[in-house]
Amino acid sequence: MYNLILFGPPGSGKGTQSEKLISQYGFKHLSTGDLLRGEIARKTSLGLEAKSLMDKGQLVPDAVVIGMIQNALETYPDVPGFLFDGFPRTSAQAKALDQLLASHNTSINMLIALHVPDDELITRMQKRAKTSGRIDDADESVLRKRLDVYRRDTMPVAAHYHALGKSLSIEGVGTIEDIFGQITSIIDQKQATH
Ligand code: AP5
Ligand code: MG
Repeated sequence: MYNLILFGPPGSGKGTQSEKLISQYGFKHLSTGDLLRGEIARKTSLGLEAKSLMDKGQLVPDAVVIGMIQNALETYPDVPGFLFDGFPRTSAQAKALDQLLASHNTSINMLIALHVPDDELITRMQKRAKTSGRIDDADESVLRKRLDVYRRDTMPVAAHYHALGKSLSIEGVGTIEDIFGQITSIIDQKQATH
């Protein structure tokens, strides 16, 4: 199994690159944001609880997303690997993920972080707001809040995997194809030496 975390701030291109990576490598894509939006669309009680936090740019409780990931790991035991997008987002989530993967006799192989300046992130999300229907894209103060939460709660996740020698950063500005090429060359190199 090859398990990858695609890491980066809101709007950095995690979802965009994930779509291309799953079609190239057959990863099972696990985006906690997409899973939560699915719960909201189905009007489940979990979705209703998550919605008010997401619309304000706040994180949902660790236990909620860890439970979702635990279910997914049990549901898809035979995939060639998992691509985590938007998870883990706190140090507690990273520790829980490491333990869950260990209990399935696997682990994270690599975290790839996309670096994009704040102004570009805001521009991208404001543009996406016109078509995405995402309430958390609509208001600049919510966008800024999401960036603050990322810096405060989520950046330590990259440090956690960096300390394990399992993280690399790339520029997330440029064409989608160029960025995809950089990500695939990292994966292909690491798989070759695996
Ligand atoms: P989530 O859905 O994970 O959103 P996010 O991390 O804020 O990131 P986005 O999905 O907004 O951006 P992205 O990096 O996927 O970029 P994209 O490819 O779309 O989380 C939403 C909320 O759910 C959280 O705030 C929280 O409340 C909750 N949540 C989720 N996971 C959680 C967790 N683990 N714990 C707790 N709470 C959690 O690209 C953005 C735009 O840019 C697109 O329009 C795209 O077309 C464009 N674009 C992409 N690449 C390029 C490029 N190279 N050049 C120009 N434009 C580009
Ligand atoms: Mg996304």
